[in-house]
Amino acid sequence: MKLRNFQDADVKDKRVFVRSDLNVPMDGDRITDDFRIVHAAETIRELLNRGAKVIIAAHLGRPKGVTPELTLKPIAERLSNILDRPVAFLLRPSDYGGQVGNDAKGDVVMLENIRFDAREEANDPEYAAELAKLADIYVNDAFGVAHRAHASTEGIAHILPSYAGLLIQREVSELSKIISNPRRPLLAIIAGAKVSTKIEMLKNIINIADAMIIDGAMGNTFRYAQGLSMGKSLFEPELIETAQEIMTLAKSAGCRIIISTDKAVAKVEEKCADSFIRGIDEIEPDDIILDAGPESITNYLNEIDQAGTVIWNGPVGMYEWPNFARGSVAIARHLAKRTAEGKIISVAGGGDTVAVLNNTGLTDKLTYVSTAGGAFMEFIEGVTLPGIAVLEAK
Ligand code: 3PG
Repeated sequence: MKLRNFQDADVKDKRVFVRSDLNVPMDGDRITDDFRIVHAAETIRELLNRGAKVIIAAHLGRPKGVTPELTLKPIAERLSNILDRPVAFLLRPSDYGGQVGNDAKGDVVMLENIRFDAREEANDPEYAAELAKLADIYVNDAFGVAHRAHASTEGIAHILPSYAGLLIQREVSELSKIISNPRRPLLAIIAGAKVSTKIEMLKNIINIADAMIIDGAMGNTFRYAQGLSMGKSLFEPELIETAQEIMTLAKSAGCRIIISTDKAVAKVEEKCADSFIRGIDEIEPDDIILDAGPESITNYLNEIDQAGTVIWNGPVGMYEWPNFARGSVAIARHLAKRTAEGKIISVAGGGDTVAVLNNTGLTDKLTYVSTAGGAFMEFIEGVTLPGIAVLEAK
């Protein structure tokens, strides 16, 4: 896939509207992981070096209208530290009106959460036109949001001369390299809370993977569909048929499905709760499944040993709680080890997965770690991402 890259455009003294993905995990107004901000800064810095004025648009969370807790203000402050220059913060796009060029506001401004206006997600053409009026050139660097056709990720690209930023260029090139002709067998490790949010992903992955581990609360739904009791754990009883259908589809596509055979459970949902190990058919009515058990973890590591490429999306347990992080940490360490030995190509994505890698200091030990979650998986699955499609060089 060939993209139009901003390095080929003359941006000197131009106003450049940059869409970044700055949707970072927060604890109140504290940023708990700035991975995406650090990556987004590269394109902004490069544009500034080339003499551009930069207007940054980004979102945080999924607000319905103006939601003060989802302000981008702390993110603008962090970006300012990373860039080592002021980043002016504007509450409304219209506030940018008279501030083009060498005005007192400096040459970097960030707009408030672009999703505070419902017209963003509706990809409203008038809103896209309003945003486009702020700039001469559009650069999309928000790979994490490239699967959304929103005003600032897709609509605006039809109005202004539009280009890909450094992060999108790198994500597309690295992921394409890995997935176009993967070293086989290809193992996907997919975990997360809900089957309902990942049905399409699971169905698509079946067609590209030779084997797929399904864990997390999603795995509970699959085990429940096989008639096993899940106690007080998270699962989706209404998706029994979907889980069964996915198993059947996997069989006919020749994709082996691996689900955990034992679990680490707690009696209370608390950070320091004691952990008990149960066989998958021994879950008690008041058990809460919070991690894969030791036998399952050993199976997973053996699966990684047999793989040529491993794609990982989703921690297998409540990794924020030490007693229930074992499965996710073991996977992260083993992926790093096998990658270092040259045995596998490893690729991971998704906010929580990246958090596990960051917490264990292993982010740079995998072949490639994407800044994206949903967009990363859709790209791997071969889905056309609207935010990328508009940047393709004809
Ligand atoms: C992400 O965190 O995956 C991206 O920022 C996209 O966010 P969204 O799923 O709310 O569109």
